[in-house]
Parts: sequence; structure tokens; C-alpha cells
Amino acid sequence: MSRVFSGIQPSGTLTLGNYLGAMKHFVELQKDHQCFFCIVDQHAITVPQNKTELRRNIRSLAALYLATGIDPEKSTLFIQSEVPAHSQLAWIMQCVSYIGELERMTQFKDKSAGKTGVSSALLTYPPLMAADILLYNTDIVPVGEDQKQHLELTRNLAERFNQQYNDIFTIPEVQIPKVGARIMSLQEPDKKMSKSDQNQKAFISMLDDEKTITKKIKSAVTDSENDIRFDRGNKPGVSNLMSILSLTSGRSLESIEQEYRGKGYGVFKEAVAEAVVSLLTPIRERYTELMESEELDEVLDQGAEQARKASFKTLKKAERAVGLGRKR
Ligand code: AMP
Ligand code: TRP
Repeated sequence: MSRVFSGIQPSGTLTLGNYLGAMKHFVELQKDHQCFFCIVDQHAITVPQNKTELRRNIRSLAALYLATGIDPEKSTLFIQSEVPAHSQLAWIMQCVSYIGELERMTQFKDKSAGKTGVSSALLTYPPLMAADILLYNTDIVPVGEDQKQHLELTRNLAERFNQQYNDIFTIPEVQIPKVGARIMSLQEPDKKMSKSDQNQKAFISMLDDEKTITKKIKSAVTDSENDIRFDRGNKPGVSNLMSILSLTSGRSLESIEQEYRGKGYGVFKEAVAEAVVSLLTPIRERYTELMESEELDEVLDQGAEQARKASFKTLKKAERAVGLGRKR
């Protein structure tokens, strides 16, 4: 069975974009793959975090994974900092990374531009991500489009390591969902929907209630044509809402175009809101239940244990290949 690894940062409540671009696919993949899903808290501290909030976000993200359908009987769900092999292999991966290639990463450029006091970990974030993936002999990494560059770098670093030392790492493939790889902001549809957006109306949180969801979708920016047609270049707002409806209802873009032709944006937005509400309501209910249960800690304890076992072997092989320690 091929192996899947993916990670999400515990930095605020996830958005509908995170769900449609990432989590939804995780749930499908666990049916016929061996999956590892990681709450990457060590990645989160590359930018300043409030410790109380971080801790709450870690638990909350774990509950969301389970509420969306990650099944601990099928998949390993764990917290990155509870599995020391991640930071240990990350160090080795840093040693095969070049400063130049790290400086060329778009995410680094975006997050560091114009700032003072940028942490060196923001630069060395990709070698940690490479370690996450390579530790589990991962074949497939499902992520949103914005992570493609980090995946390419991971492949380069793995190949470089294999060539320089010993052929021990599996070279992972990136898997990017076709529709909805990028769910856009509801207010500025040429920008990615992001949980860190200052404008609350720009994103739908996975824990928003019915009223809030409906209000946000009704005030989503469209255009003045009143024509429901998929055209990302000229009609980014409408196209984004169409993607959302398609992904939440399982309908094709063509059938949506046909059904809402000539009906106007009001009716169309109502349908989008309804689809999102019926997707998120059961997730929110299960989430609330989990946050108050002991089940959550049990799942995470068991996940950490499994991940420690699975990652230890690869770490030891890598250390041996490099010549660290005493064992040959
Ligand atoms: P982040 O929230 O940036 O830590 O991303 C977690 C996962 O969700 C990654 O796989 C992202 O690529 C994906 N993701 C984040 N925002 C979006 C979005 N607006 N549309 C699609 N996928 C997204
Ligand atoms: N860098 C990813 C993001 O910001 C999160 C991440 C960390 C990740 N390690 C990973 C994703 C390993 C996939 C595989 O979204």
C-alpha cells in the first residue's frame, strides 16, 4: 500500500479553503493508502506565537481532523513535536540544503519581506518539512498549490542526499487537487482564502455557524454582469463561488452553470450558502463533542507512539549514512 503524509499548521481555526484544498482529500486517501497526518506545531513557531493560543490551536486542529472523518483506525494522527525524529532529521536535511535555494522559496520571501527580526527558522522551514515527509518513506504528499515549491525542494534534497550518502529516501510525489486547489478570498477573489486575513468576511472558518456562513457568502464580491459562468480571469468572484459549490455538493461546474443560467447572483449565493452550511454543520457538532472528550488525547497518544516507531528506522538509517554516532 502506498504511503501518504501531510501536515497542517496549528495557527488559527482552519478555513473552508483548508478543508477543500487539503482535508477533504485526506479523508478520501485513507481508504486505500497508509496515511500519516501531522499537526506541525514546530513549523508554527517559525513566527511568534502566543503559547496559550498555540496549545489551544493544536488540540483544536486535532479535533477538526477527526471531525472531518480522519479515522484513527486507518490513519496515524499525531503532533510533530511529540516525535523527536522530525527535528533530528531536519538538522541533517539542513546540512544538505543550500542557503540560496532556501532564499528563493516564495513563502520565505513573502513572510520575511520588509520585516526585521526574521527568525532563521523561517528560512530553514523547508528542510524540516522535507524531514517530515522523508521519515515515513512517503510516496504521495497531498497539499494545496501553494506548497508545490516546497515539495519540489523536498524531492531535490532527497535526491541529493541519496546521491551523496546512500540511497535511503523514497522520492515523494506531490498531489494537488484539480478543482479547488486554491479557494480564494470572498472579498478579494484574486487572493487566497487565508485564516490570517484581517477581514473576517474574507474567509469562512470551519467552525462558523449557519448565520455567519450565510452572511459571509451573501456579501462575497462578484461582478456587475449577473452571469453565472466559470471564468477565473474575468470573473474571479463568481468562479470561486462556483468552485465552492461544486466541491461542497459534488456537482460539476457545467451542471451548476446550466442550472443557474439567468437566475441572478442572489439565488446562486443562497445555494452556495446552503451547501456550505450542510457540509460544515455536522463537522462543527462532532468537533464540539471531541473537544470535551478524553478520546482526543487517547488518539493523539496512540498516534505519537505509532509515528515514533515508524520514523525511528529512517532516522537511524540517515544518521548511519552520514556517519553520525558510533554505529555503522
Ligand atoms: P496552511 O493553512 O497554510 O497551513 O495550509 C494547510 C493546507 O491547506 C495546505 O495543504 C494548503 O495548501 C491548504 N490550503 C490553505 N489555504 C488554502 C486555500 N485557500 N485553498 C486551497 N487550499 C488551501
Ligand atoms: N508547510 C505546510 C503548510 O504551510 C505544512 C507542512 C509541514 C506540510 N510539513 C508538511 C505539508 C509535510 C505536507 C507535508 O501548509
